[in-house]
Amino acid sequence: MERDDTKLQFDEKGNLRHLLSLKGLDATLLTELLDDAEGYLTAPGALPIRSQSLAGRTIGNLFFEPSTRTRASFELAGRRLGADVLNLDVNTSSRKKGESILDTIYTLEAMQVDVMVIRDASNGVPAYIARHVDDHVSVLNAGESDVSHPTQGLLDLLTIRQHNPDFKNLAVAIVGDIQHSRVAMSASEALQTMGVGELRMISPPALAPDADRFPGARIIDNLAEGLKDADVVMALRIQRERIGNLDGVPGIDEYFANYGVSHASMKFAKPNAIIMHPGPMNRGIEIEGSLADGPRSVITKQVTNGVAVRMAVLTRIGKIMSGL
Ligand code: CP
Repeated sequence: MERDDTKLQFDEKGNLRHLLSLKGLDATLLTELLDDAEGYLTAPGALPIRSQSLAGRTIGNLFFEPSTRTRASFELAGRRLGADVLNLDVNTSSRKKGESILDTIYTLEAMQVDVMVIRDASNGVPAYIARHVDDHVSVLNAGESDVSHPTQGLLDLLTIRQHNPDFKNLAVAIVGDIQHSRVAMSASEALQTMGVGELRMISPPALAPDADRFPGARIIDNLAEGLKDADVVMALRIQRERIGNLDGVPGIDEYFANYGVSHASMKFAKPNAIIMHPGPMNRGIEIEGSLADGPRSVITKQVTNGVAVRMAVLTRIGKIMSGL
């Protein structure tokens, strides 16, 4: 059965209460969130300004999978808005003694945590929590299995818009392990809503997705064809933690030669094409290190934009909480 988180995300007045997926967020709402995020950036690439719009609120970071960027940026975003931020260390929490995820959530609710930021390896966990929390609590999906990573999708959309806001005339190429990538899913949802000109998903056959997961995208197994005249090139790592059987997945050298985003392969893209990567990167496998550090790379900009986007989402959720 197809999951429908879209209705669950909105309150009875149609305001965004939980962010579980970018599916169901229309172009107007996506644009407003990007505009709000842009407003938090004092200058291109600069760190977001501070405000007190979430003073008195508490954000709980519950990451049941590893993270550097998403967890740190939710923490910085919350602090920059004046909120208290609680980082639950899952490895030393009572989850290790068998406590259920809902009992963990109810415990934090009793401590008046207002926003639960959830990362989990299983499909459906953020929505499951959203269905069970009190009315005062919002749930933000910070990465769910291979299904959804909505704030990553927003920061990717913002980074692309900063390069060229004319989505309808852009060719975006996403290269790598598309089959297991929640980043590709959320980027695809956001870009399709914004009417992107062309979306290409490039991967070796063993890592290709089912076409019905990416409606409107071209699924391609040849890198030169996929990168041809692309405006945006996003490299993805191989999600080894989600792959049970590596049969058919090329070894490192073969992978880099055939699917690596490199100085050599970028010759197929437009000369001014930007290079993106959500991180964490595996240099020399899906991306050439000197390219990631070079002038066409916007990878660190993506990270900075991540703080601004999460501030924008938290502010919007906070306004609903305050009845504004
Ligand atoms: N892009 C991303 O989700 O990175 P982290 O796993 O470090 O949060």
